[in-house]
Amino acid sequence: MDGNGRWAASRGMPRSYGHKAGVEAVRRAVRAAGEAGIRYLTVYAFSSENWSRPADEVRDLMGLMKFFVTRDLAELCANNVHIRVIGDRSGLSQDILGLIETAESRSRENTGLKLNIAFNYGSRDEITRAVGRLVERQVAAGAQAAPITEADISAQLDTAETPDPDLVIRTSGEMRLSNFLLWQAAYAEFVFLPCMWPDFDSQWLRTALDEYASRTRRFGGVTAAKDIAL
Ligand code: FPP
Repeated sequence: MDGNGRWAASRGMPRSYGHKAGVEAVRRAVRAAGEAGIRYLTVYAFSSENWSRPADEVRDLMGLMKFFVTRDLAELCANNVHIRVIGDRSGLSQDILGLIETAESRSRENTGLKLNIAFNYGSRDEITRAVGRLVERQVAAGAQAAPITEADISAQLDTAETPDPDLVIRTSGEMRLSNFLLWQAAYAEFVFLPCMWPDFDSQWLRTALDEYASRTRRFGGVTAAKDIAL
């Protein structure tokens, strides 16, 4: 969800104004994803590297997370959205942890869109934590330890209950992953949109989905001759 700061700066406003508008865009994205029949949506709200931002911006982003969960939980639940938060919880304050636990437990039985909020999330950190748990498991199993498989690693990631993404969308024209779902996005399609995140809406989602639909996915294989459009 990139471009909040630039969107605000282009209006002569502080970065916090862009992040606030970014929350509105999250609401639009969740609604539009549900309407488009998407079953899993993961939004990157705060990275493990975002702590290096100025203290007031970090405070604003923490505040927006609290605001979003407090203000939107009832409506998200009414719309059957299942919320999960991925990322390292050990660095989060007690009040945010409490809100995250409430959001997850209150929405647990919902069967609609699965909304993952990546918060204090970094893919390398997630993989490191997963490997640490696997090492503990291997040590405990001793001589009986089985070789580690890709499935073992996937099962230890924060996204264990979420299928790998088919499509990764990044706004603001930047073309990098910034430590997002590095393992899970191995065969994802990438769409980089020129819009700033606060301008994201159902039309931009449609643009990304149309682009996705035009791609041929090969997963390392080859395209069958019958599937090639001439
Ligand atoms: C990157 O844009 C955006 C972020 C680091 C924060 C994203 C957060 C939100 C959209 C609001 C919180 C969301 C939830 C779900 C509570 P940037 O600020 O780095 O933009 P810039 O590159 O233009 O400076």
